Amino acid sequence: MAKVQITDTILRDAHQSQAATRMRLEDMLPACEILDKVGYYSLECWGGATFDSCLRFLDEDPWERLRILRKALPNTKLQMLLRGQNILGYKHYADDVVDEFVKKAIGNGMDIIRIFDALNDPRNMETAINATKKHGGICEVAMSYTVSPVHTEDYFVNLAIKLERMGADTICVKDMANLLLPYNAFSLIKKLKKSVKVPIHLHTHNTSGTGDMTLMKAIEAGVDIVDTALSPLGNGTSQPATEPLVATLQGTPYDTGLSLELMNEAAKHFRGVADKLKKEGILDTKVLSVDVNTLLYQVPGGMLSNLLNQLKQANASDKFYEVLAEVPRVREDFGYPPLVTPTSQIVGTQAVMNVLSGERYKMNPKESQGLMRGEYGRLPAKVNEEVRRKVIGDSPVITGRPADALEPEMDKYRAECARWMRQDEDALSYALFPQVAQKFFEKREAKELGIDGSLLKKEEKVMPV
Ligand code: CO
Repeated sequence: MAKVQITDTILRDAHQSQAATRMRLEDMLPACEILDKVGYYSLECWGGATFDSCLRFLDEDPWERLRILRKALPNTKLQMLLRGQNILGYKHYADDVVDEFVKKAIGNGMDIIRIFDALNDPRNMETAINATKKHGGICEVAMSYTVSPVHTEDYFVNLAIKLERMGADTICVKDMANLLLPYNAFSLIKKLKKSVKVPIHLHTHNTSGTGDMTLMKAIEAGVDIVDTALSPLGNGTSQPATEPLVATLQGTPYDTGLSLELMNEAAKHFRGVADKLKKEGILDTKVLSVDVNTLLYQVPGGMLSNLLNQLKQANASDKFYEVLAEVPRVREDFGYPPLVTPTSQIVGTQAVMNVLSGERYKMNPKESQGLMRGEYGRLPAKVNEEVRRKVIGDSPVITGRPADALEPEMDKYRAECARWMRQDEDALSYALFPQVAQKFFEKREAKELGIDGSLLKKEEKVMPV
């Protein structure tokens, strides 16, 4: 039997999930030489929220971070997470921007691009898939895992077959909320292994405390690659820890062949980083406890705390359980979107408004309207037409690929930020986060001129994740 391979997420999802994506390049570099020796399938180290965080909070050029990581990790495949047509931002971009971004990511050293779409609409992943193939990257396409009457095993198997035909080199089951229970994982992975030829990669979290068991059962079912995070930033809202799994599999047919000694050396370094993040108040050990609400309500952990915050701001904390009960109803009305950025925020906010306004769909944010109008892509199931009329009235519904409505945008972005350009990649940073990138460019310019950056206006401190 083929051995199991490991992707370590210590440089991306681990700190995104536990420490608000605040790990700096300087926190990573001292461990790179050891990480590079371990023999991982890949190191996830870029994309997701890291790009935004670099520019907004850390005063780091994300492209420079990528180039330096590439040099520091010459023997290990680098992996990133890309939100399909949203790239790393929060709206749909034109195809030329997606293509340019993928080209530059690969050109600066990225090997594997993991592409996903919140609605699992293949049309939102098509351009990124084609760009990855065209520019010589390894194309991993992810299926956002969720539970609903339409998200059956057959649904995911059929989707996987489609994604393989579209050019996926590997297929990932992306269980962002740790909803995939161990025996369901066993059954799903078995079916996927029978239905597609490309390797299957499993991504889960340990939010509801079932992550390690889910990985074990998936491994017994024949999964090829799993995501874990080195122990200092493993478990809880992050991935299951790497070392216990590696130890568990030693001497079995699934042996990863990785050295616990080397990992322990790397872990020593990251324990220091985790301690520092705790001292700075960025890492709260609360994220490590088992979240029973996720098991009960199948609502992702991050969404629960967002709902609580929204209710607190409205002085309506007592309505929490009413809102929690409203979430599945809204989700059904909206055609069962998986709850992941941005759909988790849209469904959550709508549920809060339905409860607080005393009448369902009396108030409808523009994001709810966009979702119902088809601006985010095709919803997985039939929507409640009566609700749709309440939300968008008689305005037409888009049935085509949302990005088909967008003219090429790259030249416009290049022109708008020409004044600050130091590299082609700057236009992409600007395209994704115009205000944040502009502030970053201004600071960079001030530094070049020897002006103290702290004299400049403070940047926005809220990241819309
Ligand atoms: Co994740």
